[in-house]
Amino acid sequence: MPPMSATATNRRAVGAASDAAAPAIRPAIRISELRKTFGHLVAIDNVSVDVQPGEFFVIVGPSGCGKTTLLRILAGLETASGGSIEIDTPAGSQRPANSMVFQGESIFPWMTVWNNAAYGLRMRNAPAAVIKDKVAHYLDATGLTRFAGYYPHQLSGGMKQRVSIARAFANDPEILLMDEPFSALDAQNKLLLQEELLRIWDEQKKTVVFITHSVDEAVYLGDRIMVMTAQPGRVKSFVRVPLPRPRNVIELQKAPEFGELVHRIWSNLRDEVQRAREQDEGAHDTGDGAA
Ligand SMILES: Nc1ncnc2c1ncn2[C@@H]1O[C@H](COP(=O)(O)OP(=O)(O)OP(=O)(O)O)[C@@H](O)[C@H]1O
Ligand SMILES: [Mg+2]
Repeated sequence: MPPMSATATNRRAVGAASDAAAPAIRPAIRISELRKTFGHLVAIDNVSVDVQPGEFFVIVGPSGCGKTTLLRILAGLETASGGSIEIDTPAGSQRPANSMVFQGESIFPWMTVWNNAAYGLRMRNAPAAVIKDKVAHYLDATGLTRFAGYYPHQLSGGMKQRVSIARAFANDPEILLMDEPFSALDAQNKLLLQEELLRIWDEQKKTVVFITHSVDEAVYLGDRIMVMTAQPGRVKSFVRVPLPRPRNVIELQKAPEFGELVHRIWSNLRDEVQRAREQDEGAHDTGDGAA
């Protein structure tokens, strides 16, 4: 049986670059001079970064700067126009290479909550007992046990988002790709799931690539934050988050270091958000925005 995603292959190289001299500890993800165009539009331009095994890597950037596109390329759902992406999977690993929590709704409307959460495991032909155990565990962790037999149309938006989070966690991938997974949630559930994510990450030492619009969330969760420029999306800066772990979100918010980091990232981001808005207004003024 093929793995869940036919695109989840080892060391997938696109374009010209290759790694002739691999370092002693290979990064979990190596992105080299990545470029993505859609027709004339340059969505991503010259992005290079190594994400280390077990790193919690966060991406922030203005709307339309190419964050989702970058994640889709990592997931193998989109091809790069130039540069290369390499994903390192430990030899002999039985786990899928990645699972993605998509921005917005992405669960199957014809499946119950339980079956949605079990989807990745079933596709991999996991033993029934493992499926039962994992799905029960993550439905519990996401507060959905009571709704296991419900269909998506019977759920709220935040509950649907939690189903897709449960599905990704239950699938137990090497790399977790998360595209604004908590943005549709109420504050209480967001807090609980952020804590749960950190707990799982800490326990399983997964590599996580996490997109968010919330600078607070980026600092609370991340080891390192990549700030992207307005379109075309390039690397504006990398910010390390040296805050000790385990982190407590409520306590952190009182810490001066937390405030300083948030301020630093937001200062970086503000110009880009402003630039993105000017681009939008420019497109409206000249009437070429609809192309
Ligand atoms: N399939 C596609 N065809 C054409 N253009 C696309 C396609 N996918 C994305 N784009 C364009 O690429 C740019 C980047 O889109 P992307 O969805 O990656 O942005 P984003 O940073 O995730 O934004 P947001 O924060 O709003 O989610 C946008 O201008 C978008 O219109
Ligand atoms: Mg997006």
